[in-house]
Amino acid sequence: MSGSRHVFHRHTKADLPVAVRGEGLYVIDSTGKRYLDASGGAAVSCLGHGHPRVTEAIKRQLDELAYAHTSFFTTEVAETLADTIIAGAPSGIERVYFNSGGSEGIEAALKMARQYVIEAGEPERRHIIGRWQSYHGNTIGALAAGGNRWRREPFEPLLPKFEHISPCYSYRNRHSDETEAQYALRAANELEQAIQRLGPATVCAFIAETVVGATLGAVEPSPGYFKRIREICDRHGVLLILDEVMCGMGRTGTLHACEQEGIAPDLMVVAKGLGAGYQPIGALLVSGRIFDAVRDGSGFFQHGHTYMAHPSACAAALEVQRVIAEDDLLANVRRQGENLRRALQRTFGEHAHVGDIRGRGLFQAIELVADLDTQEPFNPDLALHAHVKREAMKRGLMCYPMGGTVDGRRGDHVLLAPPFIVDDAAIQTIAGTLREAVDAAITTNRN
Ligand SMILES: Cc1ncc(COP(=O)(O)O)c(C=O)c1O
Repeated sequence: MSGSRHVFHRHTKADLPVAVRGEGLYVIDSTGKRYLDASGGAAVSCLGHGHPRVTEAIKRQLDELAYAHTSFFTTEVAETLADTIIAGAPSGIERVYFNSGGSEGIEAALKMARQYVIEAGEPERRHIIGRWQSYHGNTIGALAAGGNRWRREPFEPLLPKFEHISPCYSYRNRHSDETEAQYALRAANELEQAIQRLGPATVCAFIAETVVGATLGAVEPSPGYFKRIREICDRHGVLLILDEVMCGMGRTGTLHACEQEGIAPDLMVVAKGLGAGYQPIGALLVSGRIFDAVRDGSGFFQHGHTYMAHPSACAAALEVQRVIAEDDLLANVRRQGENLRRALQRTFGEHAHVGDIRGRGLFQAIELVADLDTQEPFNPDLALHAHVKREAMKRGLMCYPMGGTVDGRRGDHVLLAPPFIVDDAAIQTIAGTLREAVDAAITTNRN
C-alpha cells in the first residue's frame, strides 16, 4: 500500500499497518487488528488512547482559540500549565519555556545554557559535555549532544563539537571487584576528568538522561551517581541539564526521575509524557537563577519557534496532568511497575539470551545477549531487535526494541513503557507475548 502513496516514511520499504482508532491500552488498525501498546509508542502515550477528558479539553480550546503567536500574546492555558508544572518541579526550577517536542526542548536547553553564561559574564564557557550512548534527539544540536554512534555517524561532518564521557551502565561497565557505589563514583568522576582536560573555566554544561531510554534500554544510574555529578557541576560552575523527555513526567513512578536521585538540575527537558501524544508538546524547565540572569541581563532569550506554547497543545497537556494527579496514576505506575518487573523476572529470569532485566516504574527493559556468561551480544548484522519488533507486531504487541545497546553498533534490548493505566491482566499478556516474540526472533535467526 505504501508504494503508491506519498508519505515519506522513516523506513521507505516498510509496509506499515494503518492505525485508525485508539482505545485505552490498544491501537486498532484498518483491518480491525488490535495492538496492545506496551511501549506507549516511544514512551509517549502515558494515558493510553482516546481518553475522553483530554480530547474534550482540546476541542474546547480549539473552539475558543486555536492559535496566538507568542510574540504578541500569552494565553491563560499556557500560564496555567506552567503554574501546574512548576508546582511539581524540582527545587529551584521556576520557569517553563514551551516547545513542540523533545529535540526542540534540547536545542532550547543548549542555547539557554550558553546564553546564561554570557549573561553571567563568563562567555569563555563554551564546551558542553554529554555521554556516549545517550539520545537527546535528531536535530543537529541534540544529535551532537547525544552519544549514539549509529545515529551520529552519517551526519558527523555537520555536528558541532561536544565532549562525551561514558554512560553509567552498571551491567557492562562495573568491574566485578567494584560495589555499585564505587562504580557510581568512578563513572561520575569521568566528568571531573573531562572538565579538567577542557579547562574548568571553559565548560558551560553537562547533559544527561536521568534514566537512559531508547539507546540503552531503561538504564538507571547507580546510587550516588547523580549526587556526585551535581557536586562536580557545582564545584566548577557547570550547569546540569537533565533530559527527562522519555523518563520524566511520571514514567519512573515519581513525577521527575531526578527526585529519586535526590538532586535538582539547572535545566530540564520534558516532552513525551507531558502531552501523552494527544498533542505535540515539550517544555524546558528553567531554574530561577538562569531566568533571573536573563531577565536582569538582555531580557530576551534569543530563540523561539512559531508553535511554542501552542494553545491546543497546552490544553491537552494540562488535562493530561490533571487526570494523572486526580486519578493518582503515579501510584499505579509504582504498583504496576513492580508487577511488570516480577512478570519479566518470571518470564525471562532464566532465559538463555536475556542478560539483564532493568528499569524503574513503568520503564523497564530486557537486554538480549548471545552468551549469558560472556555478555557477548548477538551479531549486529542480524538486527535481532528488528525481528523482535516484527514478531511482536505480528502477535498484536507494541514494544520498543533497539540495537546498538553496547556501543552504538552491537547489542539489542527491548524497552517497555506501557500506559500508566495498565492493569495486571495486561502486564501478564505483555510479558507472555514478548517471550513468544523474542523466542521466535532468536529461532528464526538461528535457522
Ligand atoms: C531522552 C530523549 N531525548 C530527546 C528525544 C527527542 O524527542 P523528539 O523525538 O520529541 O524530538 C527523545 C526521543 O525519543 C528522547 O528519548
